[in-house]
Amino acid sequence: MPEKKYHRLLLTGAAGALGSELRPLVPDYAEKIRLNDRDPVKDCQSHEEFIAADLGDMEAMCALTKDVDAVVHMGGQSREGAWADVLNSNIVGMYNLYEGCRKNGVKRVIWASSVHTIGFYPRTEIVNPQSPTRPDSNYGVSKVYGEAVAQYYWDKYGIESVSVRIYSCFPEPLDRRQLTTWLSYNDLRHLIGQCLWAPSVRHTIIYGVSNNPAVLIDNRLAAHIGFHPQDTSEIYRAKVESNSPEPDPKSDVLGRHGGQFTVDQHFDD
Ligand SMILES: NC(=O)c1ccc[n+]([C@@H]2O[C@H](COP(=O)([O-])OP(=O)(O)OC[C@H]3O[C@@H](n4cnc5c(N)ncnc54)[C@H](O)[C@@H]3O)[C@@H](O)[C@H]2O)c1
Repeated sequence: MPEKKYHRLLLTGAAGALGSELRPLVPDYAEKIRLNDRDPVKDCQSHEEFIAADLGDMEAMCALTKDVDAVVHMGGQSREGAWADVLNSNIVGMYNLYEGCRKNGVKRVIWASSVHTIGFYPRTEIVNPQSPTRPDSNYGVSKVYGEAVAQYYWDKYGIESVSVRIYSCFPEPLDRRQLTTWLSYNDLRHLIGQCLWAPSVRHTIIYGVSNNPAVLIDNRLAAHIGFHPQDTSEIYRAKVESNSPEPDPKSDVLGRHGGQFTVDQHFDD
């Protein structure tokens, strides 16, 4: 277990699925944890304080990031949705969060980007952290914006960031595509811990995928993070194949990294 590196960490999206998984991990890295979400967070421990705020509220984000050393940013619109929600949570919200970090001298931000930044790549191509983006949705575009913000605040203001392009992070793989794209909760915790602990990250992009057969990513350019996934989707293969139908060979759902997002209609139509 590492020595505690930070005095106070901020965890956003603390009421959400991944925020809830990460909440028990962050005390290993900091004395105090500030939790944020617009929804209520229950059962705060003595080392935790909860501040309800909307990412779209600049004043609230400046207050939220005060006296914080580093941020684990899991808050936001977590899938394709109405443009107004994507805009508020992922675009305005990302800007507000980084402005708060700049004004308050926050040193490092680890945040949840997405496979949907590169969703239109065919599965015959392996992507690496420098592959040009090919977003598959307004949600994916908002994550590309977030990565641009992270790069800009490193280059201009010296705030370090890791943009973690999470593929499919669930307790188990849910369908045949996720046999390739699954990230286990254990591997997520290891990955975020490494991002917090690595001595220097500048702005790093890294893919979040477990040690599955036939992975479609190459993380060697992010080797300095020290992410070594331990879990594999293979143990769920029989269950997934018996529960999910054979894919239509003409559909792009299994043909592209972004899966269903690449074929869905515009959300607001
Ligand atoms: N779960 C995955 O497989 C996956 C894959 C790729 C990326 N991600 C990203 O990881 C992050 C966490 O995902 P999750 O699965 O836990 O999603 P989630 O929807 O369960 O959690 C997101 C949390 O953010 C909060 N939130 C949303 N908009 C907000 C706003 N404007 N102000 C304050 N709080 C707000 C929500 O209340 C929610 O608790 C998201 O950014 C998502 O895009 C997740």
